[in-house]
Amino acid sequence: MRSPVPDYLADVLDAVRSIDDGAPADYIEVLAKADTSRLAVALATVDGEVYVAGDSDVAFSIQSISKPFAYAAAIEDVGLDAVLARIGVEPSGDAFNELSLDDGTHRPMNPMINAGALATHALVAGPDASGPQRVERLRALMSAMAGRELGYDEAVYEAELRDAHRNRGLAHMLRAGGIIHAEPETIVDGYVRQCAVSVTVRDLALMAATLANAGVQPLTGRQVISRTGVRQVLSVMTTCGMYDAAGDWVSNVGIPAKSGVAGGIIGALPGQLGLAVFSPKLDAHGNSARGVAVCERLSRDMGLHMM
Ligand code: DON
Repeated sequence: MRSPVPDYLADVLDAVRSIDDGAPADYIEVLAKADTSRLAVALATVDGEVYVAGDSDVAFSIQSISKPFAYAAAIEDVGLDAVLARIGVEPSGDAFNELSLDDGTHRPMNPMINAGALATHALVAGPDASGPQRVERLRALMSAMAGRELGYDEAVYEAELRDAHRNRGLAHMLRAGGIIHAEPETIVDGYVRQCAVSVTVRDLALMAATLANAGVQPLTGRQVISRTGVRQVLSVMTTCGMYDAAGDWVSNVGIPAKSGVAGGIIGALPGQLGLAVFSPKLDAHGNSARGVAVCERLSRDMGLHMM
């Protein structure tokens, strides 16, 4: 692996800056107004070295990148078997917000699409947890992985909650199918909060590096997720993390990853590093257009592909 010096990362950002494809997510009012010139990258090694370039201090909402961390929390809190009984692990090939559950079992296809993420959220902190307990469990876990206390982007939370009708529809389908037992509205509220956690690329690279480091946060040395949990999370990120672009991603970049509609992407290469990129304009699959280009370049230059 070539040394990821800051000048190199700045050069990679300069090389993709002219890409102007796509548009920011428009279904959440606040995200539609994002500054589309923003571009940032961070790498965190499993030894705790962190390298950043570009707008690395700019905070944005974590969105769907929270899904693998919520999945990890659910596995820790109720056990893998109980999670698998309610949520599958097969790629759906559909959009992230597809209104579909398995015909026979009513299980969502996987925890990275919204149906599966809502079902996952309902398992966090155990069967008797309250809405605020689930929300705080997730904020605390993501903070432990980032190595600092994370807060929320309240404007994103409020804007998304106002318009969360599709997720409400999914939560009611999950309740009708017996997959969740809590009030659908409480689950949607908690899930929208989970998505509104505010992060920088530095935070996300350290969270990804924690996955790459078998659940041990590289700076604090704390085991925040079990090895079993990490293995399951990275497996599902590999097959389902980039939605219907998962095949292109695995071919071109070749590391477990997850994207979010605010324009963030994380990647975790076991035993080596976590990476994070941010740029708000999304491609047709809902993944950051410049972010994908940065990751393809890093993978090629640094030999990150797992094959
Ligand atoms: O459920 C939603 O609509 C969002 N809060 C999260 C979506 C998301 O980030 C999808 N990923 N690319």
